[in-house]
Amino acid sequence: MDIELYRARWRKLQSYMRSRGLIWTALFTLRFSVLWMLKRLDRWIIAVEQRRFLIGGNTVASQYHTLGESKRWADRYNWSRGGNEWSNDVQSLRGLDPTAWENVIVNQTILKYIRPGSTVFEVGPGAGRWTKVLASLCSRVVVADVSEAALEACRNALRSFQNVEYFLVADALPDAIPDEGVDFVWSYDVFVHINPNDTARYLAYFARKLRAGGIGIIHHAGEYISDDDRSNGWRSYMTGKFFAHLVEENGMKVLDQNGDLPHKPGDVITVFTKGRGIIRKG
Ligand SMILES: C[S@@+](CC[C@H](N)C(=O)[O-])C[C@H]1O[C@@H](n2cnc3c(N)ncnc32)[C@H](O)[C@@H]1O
Repeated sequence: MDIELYRARWRKLQSYMRSRGLIWTALFTLRFSVLWMLKRLDRWIIAVEQRRFLIGGNTVASQYHTLGESKRWADRYNWSRGGNEWSNDVQSLRGLDPTAWENVIVNQTILKYIRPGSTVFEVGPGAGRWTKVLASLCSRVVVADVSEAALEACRNALRSFQNVEYFLVADALPDAIPDEGVDFVWSYDVFVHINPNDTARYLAYFARKLRAGGIGIIHHAGEYISDDDRSNGWRSYMTGKFFAHLVEENGMKVLDQNGDLPHKPGDVITVFTKGRGIIRKG
């Protein structure tokens, strides 16, 4: 920390001592130190959880990036920009043209893996930035989101498509899809905000809902140059290795992990398949 910041803090404490007294200032300093220590402790525990692939009740990483927090954010979000505002981020984060980058994502993920005429399940469609592409390509698109506001924005954006079904995710994941009822799973800019415990829950669900040979394409959090860089964009405490471990723990197989395609350096797109026979395009 730079010396000027220490000086500014010391001046602030001196002014507190004068205006609020010694006891208040001492207790306030203690509180600040305890909170700082707790934050450090959380990071150390999370590093162990990531190394040992720990999930479940009381894991520290899963106290963050919860479904409730995402829902509160998305229900209040202004969806009128259609998600294009996030494509624009690629300009400042990677120096790429947003439209050209979107085309690369569509070509190297959706069009590369997803077979025309198939059934696809999308998690977190938001205002339908990618759903439009999926609905043009596939015969059936099932979308599930924690936010009714996001689903409403998606419904509005995809009014002209008759092949999209909408589900609200509450504590349970949508049961209306039969087991082995989908060919592909797709999600962009959603799992980057989902904690390891909820990610594991989704992967178990995908393992049930995908047909043998089906493919999942998921954009999720990875490793960042600093803690601040992870927080900037509210990235969960996932890593590429952790995600791959959860895929394999659910009896599926990783086909590819790509850190160059996502709009934010550090993020990862993992492609995985259920079973041996890969459903190929065409
Ligand atoms: C940043 S927006 C991205 C929307 C869209 N995928 C896009 O790329 O434009 C995140 C979306 O994921 C949804 N979401 C967040 N956590 C979720 C969860 N656990 N299950 C389903 N949807 C979730 C939010 O409600 C929101 O619609």
